[in-house]
Amino acid sequence: MSGDALALAQENAVLNDYRGEFTTLQGKANDLMKSVLDQGRTYDLVVLDPPAFIKRRKDQRQGEKAYHQINQLALRLLAPGGTLVSASCSMHLSREALMDVVKTAAAHRHRQLQVFAQGGQGPDHPVHPAIAETSYLKAIFARDIAG
Ligand SMILES: C[S@@+](CC[C@H](N)C(=O)[O-])C[C@H]1O[C@@H](n2cnc3c(N)ncnc32)[C@H](O)[C@@H]1O
Repeated sequence: MSGDALALAQENAVLNDYRGEFTTLQGKANDLMKSVLDQGRTYDLVVLDPPAFIKRRKDQRQGEKAYHQINQLALRLLAPGGTLVSASCSMHLSREALMDVVKTAAAHRHRQLQVFAQGGQGPDHPVHPAIAETSYLKAIFARDIAG
């Protein structure tokens, strides 16, 4: 959504001497994903790093639904053999729950996924050993094993 962030992305592509096609789209992620889908495009890599959909306990049900929707949309955009990176920064969505979102989305879309890596937070985001929710950043790296 941020024009400034997209301009920085363009600048980074130049700084990194990237010579391939580099396009940015500005707008609401869900709308853009649907419009690209309507154009019949698919991608070898889809990275989901949405804002926290579950900020408070009362958002749990609605938030989980949003994670399911966006992950299913991402899988529709993922080319056969492609890689999905699905992240969540919701402290009320556990790593296991995110894995379940990815698993369920794959089942709905009839895709076979293989999780080959998982990410978490770095040392600048220390975890309180008694407060599980302080370990809130997680990411799942999964490849589609087509055929
Ligand atoms: C967890 S951050 C992603 C951070 C990013 N991966 C990075 O490394 O800088 C989520 C981002 O989604 C943006 N955002 C929130 N709602 C959005 C929407 N409906 N469509 C597109 N982007 C949105 C927020 O402004 C925020 O920058």
